[in-house]
Amino acid sequence: MNVRRLVPADAPGYRDLMLAAYAQHPDAFTSTPQERAALPLAWWEARVTDAPAANECVLGAWTNDTLAGVAGLSFETRAKARHKATLFGMYVRPAHRQEGVGARLVEAALEAARGRDGVGLVQLTVSAGNRAAQALYARAGFVPFGVEPFAVAVEGGFVAKVHMWCDLDLSRAHPAHLQSLAP
Ligand SMILES: CC(C)(COP(=O)(O)OP(=O)(O)OC[C@H]1O[C@@H](n2cnc3c(N)ncnc32)[C@H](O)[C@@H]1OP(=O)(O)O)[C@@H](O)C(=O)NCCC(=O)NCCS
Repeated sequence: MNVRRLVPADAPGYRDLMLAAYAQHPDAFTSTPQERAALPLAWWEARVTDAPAANECVLGAWTNDTLAGVAGLSFETRAKARHKATLFGMYVRPAHRQEGVGARLVEAALEAARGRDGVGLVQLTVSAGNRAAQALYARAGFVPFGVEPFAVAVEGGFVAKVHMWCDLDLSRAHPAHLQSLAP
C-alpha cells in the first residue's frame, strides 16, 4: 500500500470515491451526494491542491493503482486557532476495509499535521454509533470530549456527533503562537 498526498490530477478519482461514500454512508457524512455532485471539477481540484501551504490536504491510500481510501486535513488560518487542524472526509472502499488502510491514513494525517508549523492538535467529529470509525480514531490516540446532539438531519431523524481530539504536543505550538499574538 502506498499513501501519498493527492494532487490535482487525482481530482476525478477523488470525486468519484467521495460521491460513492456520501451515497453509501448518509449517516457518516454531512454532505449529500447531490450537493457534492453539483460542484464543478475545479472545486475538487482546489481541495487536492499540492500547494505546500494550502489550507487543506487530502491523503490517499493506493493499492495496485486503485484509490482504496482517503482522509482530509484542514488547517486553521486565524492566528488564535492555528494550533488546530481538523481531520475530515475519512473513507475506505468496502473491498479494502479491515486491512489497515484507515489506520495508515489516520497515521499519515497526523504526520502531516505534525509537519505543519505550530499545529498542536487534531480534532474531528464522528457520528454517534459509528463504531468502526470511533474505534479506529481511539486506537490512533483520539479521545472524545463532547457530543453535539441533533448534529445532522438524516432520513428518519437526527444523528449526534461525537467530538474527538488528538494531542500532538501542544507545548510545541505555544511559543510561535505567543509571539504571533503579541501586539
Ligand atoms: C471507518 C473506516 C474508515 C475504517 O477503515 P478501515 O480501513 O476498515 O480500518 P482499519 O482496517 O485500518 O482498522 C483500524 C482499526 O479501526 C477499528 N475498526 C475498523 N473497522 C472496524 C469495525 N467494522 N468494527 C469495529 N472496529 C473497527 C479497529 O479498531 C481497527 O483496529 P484492529 O485492526 O485492531 O481491529 C471504514 O470502515 C469506512 O470507510 N467507513 C465508512 C465511512 C466512515 O464511517 N467514515 C468515517 C467518518 S467520521
